[in-house]
Amino acid sequence: MPTVSIEKAEFKARRERLLAMMEPNSVAIIPAANEVTRSRDTEYAFRQDSDFFYLTGFNEPDAVLVLSPSSETPSTLFCLNKDKLAEIWHGRRIGFEKAKKDYLFDQTCALSELTEQLLNLVNGQQILFYAQGTYPQFDDKVWELLNTLRGAPKKGYKAPHTIKDIRGLVHEMRLFKSPAEVRIMRESCEISTQGHMRAMQFAKPGATEYQLEAELHHHYAMHGARHPAYGTIVGSGDNANILHYTANSDVLTNGDLVLIDSGAELHGYAADITRTFPINGKFSEPQAALYTIVLAAQEAAFTEVRPGGTLSKANKLAMKVLTQGLLDLGILQGDLQELLDNQACKAFYMHGLGHWLGLDVHDVGDYKKDEKERPFEPGMVLTIEPGLYISLDAKAPEQYKGIGIRIEDNLLVTEQGHENLTASAPKSISEIEALMKKQATNR
Ligand code: GLY
Ligand code: MN
Ligand code: MN
Repeated sequence: MPTVSIEKAEFKARRERLLAMMEPNSVAIIPAANEVTRSRDTEYAFRQDSDFFYLTGFNEPDAVLVLSPSSETPSTLFCLNKDKLAEIWHGRRIGFEKAKKDYLFDQTCALSELTEQLLNLVNGQQILFYAQGTYPQFDDKVWELLNTLRGAPKKGYKAPHTIKDIRGLVHEMRLFKSPAEVRIMRESCEISTQGHMRAMQFAKPGATEYQLEAELHHHYAMHGARHPAYGTIVGSGDNANILHYTANSDVLTNGDLVLIDSGAELHGYAADITRTFPINGKFSEPQAALYTIVLAAQEAAFTEVRPGGTLSKANKLAMKVLTQGLLDLGILQGDLQELLDNQACKAFYMHGLGHWLGLDVHDVGDYKKDEKERPFEPGMVLTIEPGLYISLDAKAPEQYKGIGIRIEDNLLVTEQGHENLTASAPKSISEIEALMKKQATNR
């Protein structure tokens, strides 16, 4: 079971850093997520809003964080009232008294006091930081509050004259992972790599895609990560060519590959790993040929993941390898430079090379800085995930049709270069075949 976690003092320090970046006469309102109905009176598993979680570590729905640098109590949390009946039916609530002590807020209030207290906290401030559009019901509450402040100057009310989006500041903070965040991400990546290995060992013709999904999710939960970080993709055969395939409903066929894109979520932090392997444990020649190209493309891209490197340069390196490989196999024809100039490989590699990774699987943080692409810096975590997708209806030699391959790892940028957090998930053809052979009796 994981022993890593983030100290409450770190969440407090994050609030203090954000407060220090805010203008003195400003106030930020940051709502938590709400529960979402799945069907009638049942809800989806609750997932906290990532920004709210980053600043609080508080995992209950409907709460609200208010930050106000010039206030005597710069950080205020509003949270669900203690309620005996609601707690008997739905679960325990921390309550505002305990929340203050346990989560190190300057002030905590019951949610029932929100409207009244928010009026006091926002009145007279010049700038309101609020990320509109995420929670429409809460937007209404904020507009109502502003209208009340605007409508009663005789009562001494004064509404902020400017509304700003707090996300720019928070997302820049989230882009750089602290040592504690890195420890958690290492662990979520490790749990996930082992989940992938479990799926490789379980795979056999006749099993279903959703059974492989179940193997992964079982492993995550049994190792302390109850939920996957996103909808697991298990695409066998031509299904691998559907980039966001999550139906996971087909039976695995002897001779096909299966592409699994799955990662656990631990303390909110995502892993995002893709491995592609043969259902019967042995790559065919055309499968191996395409697989070797994708793996070489990923290795080429890795060389650019270091301080000063960029995602677009890494992608250029990957695309060069993919294009040369497709040319060698006769899937593309023509002059290499011309094919590169025309980005011809994009017909078989339709997505980007990677993305930031953190509390969100497609994590926040600007990809540009001062109008230019931002170079990698230590503390950033990103995925590198080249692929080749030759669908059944592609214009390609017959033996390559119905093959989809993606290989995805999670890299932490370090002073020296990078650390591959998902390196222990088997990736070379020989490693995969050796692991699957061990379980040959299962198949
Ligand atoms: N799992 C989604 C992605 O790889 O971006
Ligand atoms: Mn992925
Ligand atoms: Mn990804």
